[in-house]
Amino acid sequence: MRADDPVRRAVMPDATLIDQATQVRLNAHAPYSNFKVGCAIRSVEGNVYVGCNVENVAYPEGTCAEAGAIAAMIAAGDTRIAEVAVIAGSPAPVPPCGGCRQKLAEFADGDTPITMATTQGATQVTQVGALLPGQFTAAHMAE
Ligand code: THU
Repeated sequence: MRADDPVRRAVMPDATLIDQATQVRLNAHAPYSNFKVGCAIRSVEGNVYVGCNVENVAYPEGTCAEAGAIAAMIAAGDTRIAEVAVIAGSPAPVPPCGGCRQKLAEFADGDTPITMATTQGATQVTQVGALLPGQFTAAHMAE
């Protein structure tokens, strides 16, 4: 497969965010759950970052698609999330797990939109704050 094959390329600048999540999902390493997830993040700085779940035979070492996309954004030097899309082959639009909700909240505002999707074409849009009411914040560490 060529290095610039769309399935192998991490980011396609002209595609919608959900299309990018759909593409990167194909690269997921999910031999244990057989549940592939793709995530695409548009940063406030205007760039797109993608991630997929990467499982491990030592199960707790696996990482979620959202975590991969967030790590890519931070590693590239961008700082804040403007929009999120996540997709899986689930019967209903796939919601981020609890840990990923906290990870997204670290870099997003409460009203940052997140589109949850299925590979069958169903979508549901919500906001990062709605996914994590009562979230732990830096304010809780104030003396
Ligand atoms: N998974 C994600 O990548 N993101 C989520 O928000 C939900 C769960 C992955 C983790 C694991 O590889 C598989 O889906 C089954 O839980």
